[in-house]
Amino acid sequence: MERLRRRVLVPLFDRLGYDLVPAAPDWSHRPTSPREVDLLLSSAAASLERDLAASGITPSGDVREWTKTFWDLIPSAPVRQRRGGSGFNGALQLYVALRALKPRIVIESGVFRGLTTWVIRQACPDASIHCHDPDLSGLQYRDAAATYGTADWSEADGYGRDPAGTVAFFDDHVPQARRVVEAQARGLTRLLFDDDAAGHRIHAHGGPAHPTIAMIEALRDASEPIRWQRNGRAFEQPADDPLARAAAAAIARTHAFDDLHRATGYAPARLTSVTLHAPAASRGWAA
Ligand SMILES: C[S@@+](CC[C@H](N)C(=O)[O-])C[C@H]1O[C@@H](n2cnc3c(N)ncnc32)[C@H](O)[C@@H]1O
Repeated sequence: MERLRRRVLVPLFDRLGYDLVPAAPDWSHRPTSPREVDLLLSSAAASLERDLAASGITPSGDVREWTKTFWDLIPSAPVRQRRGGSGFNGALQLYVALRALKPRIVIESGVFRGLTTWVIRQACPDASIHCHDPDLSGLQYRDAAATYGTADWSEADGYGRDPAGTVAFFDDHVPQARRVVEAQARGLTRLLFDDDAAGHRIHAHGGPAHPTIAMIEALRDASEPIRWQRNGRAFEQPADDPLARAAAAAIARTHAFDDLHRATGYAPARLTSVTLHAPAASRGWAA
């Protein structure tokens, strides 16, 4: 098979203008000498500790220890993906953020093959997990205790019942401002977003979920639109977008995590923590 790939398929795809690469996940490549493993884990943990603090999340455990646990777990992940979903860094960020937040309920919007569902389950063994994706045909991991639906999360009932114990994770290419407004309407305050891209970086991203969290923040005081082009197509994010304004009013705090590339060598990740203003009646986040 490998000979067929190298001799026939790769040259054929090359001529057509595509790269044919094995779907080996990035974590299948790793340091093996103890000193280098220690350096990778300590650097990643130090970066994650800074990100949790900047997000207003106080971990009740040892982030270095969680990072090591994840390092030992990830080779057993039942999803092997190279493209289209999280790699090592994104999965580690999600794992550590959820261990720190300790939610009772996790809503996941944007499941794809199921890698991040598996990560959520490893971080929160007892949580109720609710997965939404209009296309569940590619699942490689189906969590036995989670619920799955192809309807949009905003059409589901009941997600506002335990807002203080709920984290919503959005990795669905839907405008992030829309997700913020929907979460606020349900009284949720703890949100995690993948693929938050700033206006000057969004051109590098396919399926931009704009207005992104970074754009919502940048447009708070701006009068000029954000414009970019990708694959010959022009995009514009207006400055006076009512959706972005509504999301800005709902947001109390945002923090984009470091991409972890420098710490681990793996592909840059893009997790952003968003805290919404608590509804008046709520006592706020309680672990
Ligand atoms: C980047 S993938 C998710 C990757 C996954 N979280 C991971 O890291 O392995 C984006 C997914 O969003 C899904 N999607 C598109 N529109 C959606 C919607 N309205 N609600 C939920 N998911 C949606 C797509 O079908 C796709 O599976």
